[in-house]
Amino acid sequence: MKILRSLLGGLIVAGAALAYAASTPEQPAPVRRPHPLQWDSMDKLIAAKTGDGAVEFQFSVTNTGAEPVQIMEVRPSCGCTVADLPKSPWILAPGGTGSFRATVDIRGRRGLFSKTMLVASNAGAQVLGLRVEIPEAPRLSRDQNIQLAAADRQAVFHGACYSCHVEPIGGKQGQVLFNAACSICHEADPRATMVPDLNVAREKRDAAYWRKWIAEGKEQTLMPAFHEKHGGPLSETQVESLVTFVLKNFPTEPVRE
Ligand code: HEC
Ligand code: HEC
Repeated sequence: MKILRSLLGGLIVAGAALAYAASTPEQPAPVRRPHPLQWDSMDKLIAAKTGDGAVEFQFSVTNTGAEPVQIMEVRPSCGCTVADLPKSPWILAPGGTGSFRATVDIRGRRGLFSKTMLVASNAGAQVLGLRVEIPEAPRLSRDQNIQLAAADRQAVFHGACYSCHVEPIGGKQGQVLFNAACSICHEADPRATMVPDLNVAREKRDAAYWRKWIAEGKEQTLMPAFHEKHGGPLSETQVESLVTFVLKNFPTEPVRE
């Protein structure tokens, strides 16, 4: 306790000394030289449109210093942002200019979405701000949703549909994945007339059958293609985990009367 108190005492003295040093008028504040890299803006705002899945920012830079500057890295603060830099090494001569593009994935986001990027150069780090204003998705009726899906069956994976039809999927597998991705339509109460009951096999359903339906869906219907290679939200492993689950839990042969 005694040691702690004397430590604390020391800290208070040091703090007071610092406060004193900062307030003495004879000590001029250190001159802050402007960073040689001057960006067209350090903080950009884009207003996204309803349904946009991503927005693109363009940042331009000028080297206003007397020495060449190398930008080593631009590190976004989240996996949702991808910076597309010029060929490495990216060196700006004195007076030289350059630019790069940053794409921000805004699927499933709402409101004001703010991210940053750390620019690492041999002239010192800088932080660029990216802000996206994302409009609230309009609430549509069930009929309106069906109409949109009829025009484009992959619509369920984007824009206003994302929060219910994709967000719950995450990295899930097997049964929990089925509950998040498939039950919403196939086990809805009441189920829409054009959505079949998966508990009734109308034809032989082997692994290939399920795999094809899940991965590719069917054109001209409301059944979307779930595999990422066909524009869906599921990885190969997730598709296979579903095939394993449904094969075990749903009838594979039609019932003969
Ligand atoms: C608020 C959550 C939510 C949003 C947002 C949403 N859906 Fe749905 N969707 C559901 C639910 C729940 C069902 C099951 C039927 C029901 O209960 O209305 C469903 C069912 C469906 C069906 C099957 C037909 C039916 O009516 O059962 C389609 C097609 C569909 N949605 C398309 C879309 C599209 C396209 C969008 C975006 C424009 C969308 N949904 C947005 C929750 C949502
Ligand atoms: C947006 C609603 C919707 C979602 C979500 C959906 N389906 Fe479908 N599915 C349909 C519709 C509509 C059909 C009927 C297609 C037709 O008209 O032939 C269908 C048909 C099917 C069929 C063929 C019919 C049968 O009974 O064998 C299978 C299999 C199927 N879906 C499996 C799935 C699986 C597995 C998932 C989850 C990965 C899923 N579906 C998610 C709407 C949906």
